[in-house]
Amino acid sequence: MATLYSSLAREIVERIEQGLYRPGDRMPGVRILSAQRGVSIATAVAAYRRLEDDGYIEARQRSGFYVRARPHPRVAEPEASAPRVRPSPVTGQELVLQLVKATNTPGIIQLGAAVPDPSYLPTRAIERALSRAARQRLRIMAYEFPPGAPELRRQIARRMAEIGCPVDPDEVVITNGCQEALILALRAVTQPGDVVAIESPTFYGMLQALDSLGLEALEIPTHPRTGLSLEALGLALERWPVKACVAVPNYSNPLGYCMPDEHKRRLVALLKARGIPLIEDDVYGDLGFAQRRPSVCRAIPGADVLYCASFSKTLSSGLRIGWIAPGRHLERVEYLKYVNNLATATVPQLAIADLLESGGYERFLRQVRGDYARAVTRMVDAVTRHFPEGTKITQPEGGFVIWIELPKDIDSFELARRALTEKISIAPGPIFSATQKYRNYIRISCACAWDTRIETALAALGRMIRQETAPVPESRMTTRRDAD
Ligand SMILES: Cc1ncc(COP(=O)(O)O)c(C=O)c1O
Repeated sequence: MATLYSSLAREIVERIEQGLYRPGDRMPGVRILSAQRGVSIATAVAAYRRLEDDGYIEARQRSGFYVRARPHPRVAEPEASAPRVRPSPVTGQELVLQLVKATNTPGIIQLGAAVPDPSYLPTRAIERALSRAARQRLRIMAYEFPPGAPELRRQIARRMAEIGCPVDPDEVVITNGCQEALILALRAVTQPGDVVAIESPTFYGMLQALDSLGLEALEIPTHPRTGLSLEALGLALERWPVKACVAVPNYSNPLGYCMPDEHKRRLVALLKARGIPLIEDDVYGDLGFAQRRPSVCRAIPGADVLYCASFSKTLSSGLRIGWIAPGRHLERVEYLKYVNNLATATVPQLAIADLLESGGYERFLRQVRGDYARAVTRMVDAVTRHFPEGTKITQPEGGFVIWIELPKDIDSFELARRALTEKISIAPGPIFSATQKYRNYIRISCACAWDTRIETALAALGRMIRQETAPVPESRMTTRRDAD
């Protein structure tokens, strides 16, 4: 039987879908809604929370509820990838250092690296937490040996319990960001020369980790809505001696999909049946556009999962605080962390523990999720306006990057080089593949400070792309209907 609040939520959805409330409109306050509908304030709040969970509206701090920008139903999306499923060493990652250096170069329009502009981050709260941490004079002078500061591990364990994945604080090892967590996970379960199954396209930091550890990448076809193809993975596991599988099931980088719960269960079962550990990268898990936090594979009973995450995309990438909950590989991971760099710096650990303890994290997440959703919508709009016919764009459900398929004859390496001469940084597709596929794709980070320079940069990119393609009539973008 439908509850009162869910009936009320459904009615409001109908009004939003009829266009009576449009994206950006403020919804009636809860008191007004309660008086208008003759329901209690608690029921009105519950209806709004349901709409928030379902991604229809968002709460803005001290200002009420607003209709969220909906995804662009008419923009065509790239199809599932179809890499050749055969183990291969990683090549072609040299350009990446140049790309990430651009993020710190003044005057460069930074659309390349997936690093949020500081305007998205709670810089003041971090500053205060850091100065409080710095006052613990004797404590911060010492190594905080693995597994890391107990107060931070306690806060992380609390947060993981809140997202449905209870772990003991002693099962958490603090790392220098998610990148170190991923490397520790790979080192714990593989030897040089082993084969690791990965999503394709995938985050280039993972490819560099495989490269530096002498591991071979087995690129698995991946769908921009549902993630790793479980059928292709199943066949690959029959054929190749895979020692680990890495996935970013929640808002992957660069595709932005959220793997459905049923797929997560099937993925875990498939790997478990063959005794293969899953390295789960959940660095974007807190950044979904619908307010309901997606599930994690690590929470599935019996799963052999090394769970890796960090605060780089939510609080600060510069503090370099991440963690790993490696399950049965704990002892090995702790030892490898110690060998790697003895400890993670103490001050940032204490500062993040302080921030989490003060309870502001959840409130901040609500705000930043809305900010990233708006940034993505705005970027998709602008790319749609400036890029030529045939351009396809992903519709991420979280995070802040978009993956763009350009006309077939575009060489995105060349485009990135040309763009850099005009002080624009973009990420070319081949760096997301072990074997330099995705030549006509680019990834764009949407979490930039938006001003007219961004529009100008996108217009310039659009011009460069047009110059590289055969002349085509200036008509509208390919639409999903066209693609059907
Ligand atoms: C999917 C993914 N995993 C891991 C990382 C690295 O995170 P960190 O900065 O915490 O090391 C990134 C950074 O871009 C990422 O996109």
